[in-house]
Amino acid sequence: MLIDSYDRVVDYLRVSVTERCNFRCQYCMPEKPFSWVPKENLLSFEELFEFMKIAIDEGVNKIRITGGEPLLREDLDKFIKMIYDYKNDVDLAMTTNAFLLKGTAQKLKDAGLKRINVSIDTLKPEIAQQIAQKDVLKNVLQGVDEALKVGLKVKVNMVPMKTVNAEEIIDVLEYCKERNMSIRFIEYMENSFASKEIKGLKSNELLEILGSKYEFKDDGFDGSSPSHYYTMKDGYRFGIIEPYEDDFCKKCNRIRLTAEGNLIPCLYFDESLSISKAIKAGDIKEAAEVLREVVRTKPEKNRWGGDDAEVSTRAFYETGG
Ligand code: 5AD
Ligand code: SF4
Repeated sequence: MLIDSYDRVVDYLRVSVTERCNFRCQYCMPEKPFSWVPKENLLSFEELFEFMKIAIDEGVNKIRITGGEPLLREDLDKFIKMIYDYKNDVDLAMTTNAFLLKGTAQKLKDAGLKRINVSIDTLKPEIAQQIAQKDVLKNVLQGVDEALKVGLKVKVNMVPMKTVNAEEIIDVLEYCKERNMSIRFIEYMENSFASKEIKGLKSNELLEILGSKYEFKDDGFDGSSPSHYYTMKDGYRFGIIEPYEDDFCKKCNRIRLTAEGNLIPCLYFDESLSISKAIKAGDIKEAAEVLREVVRTKPEKNRWGGDDAEVSTRAFYETGG
């Protein structure tokens, strides 16, 4: 079992298979990065899989594939199947912008994928165009429908932003509710790569808007999920992710791997250790040691909130959020 120095069990690994993306979301990658990771530095699926096996053997039981946009990487279903065939009870999920899901959802499901998280920040094509800097909404909604049709569980993320999509909070929630998808509102996390104009809504502002239409009760936290849950009168549950709150990191159970093999103990900080050399050399012992060291050095909490609050300089498109 992997346990950090604050007694948190780390059993969740997020794997970014590429930092490239076909969107340019304002809160993540509004401009194309100065340079992409050179192709030769990327770990192959076989190399990534070598590390997945080590992580699973050390106690990881949930793996989420992220990006950038993971579906930009060819043969992703084959990578999913490798993990599924190694241990079929690993909770296998993916975060995607859904643009390329139409036509691939069935293949991913057949390979062993169980769940996806997608962003639906708006239901208005022109606002989607403004956020992603591309006309994306039609494909995204078709992709989501296809995922539901093939039996993937779908969770929706919405980042509410003032003067952009704040007025659509209830509409997006209703859209999800009608389709039996859960929704989580994510407070915008300030980072140095995002557009400077963004002003995110905080959970108290969200609750005020939602409270103008619905009655709900505060369910608090559930397991190691970062969401603060609320249940509406008809039983529908929504979540709010509040990284600025003091106790947000208390139950953090995750670490992140970038596409070039950097293992990151915390989404907020720049620190990382590379497993690339050990994996390329076939040195399983060394790769496992790096993994344990990263878990040991996991910081207690991020610095988005509190008195020493700072903007994060870690790119979301490297870690997949
Ligand atoms: N703040 C909050 N959420 C973000 N995401 C990306 N960048 C940010 C940010 N700065 C979320 C998107 C997407 C997921 C990959 O991460 O909503 O669903
Ligand atoms: Fe791409 Fe996701 Fe970042 Fe948007 S949030 S630019 S879809 S990686």
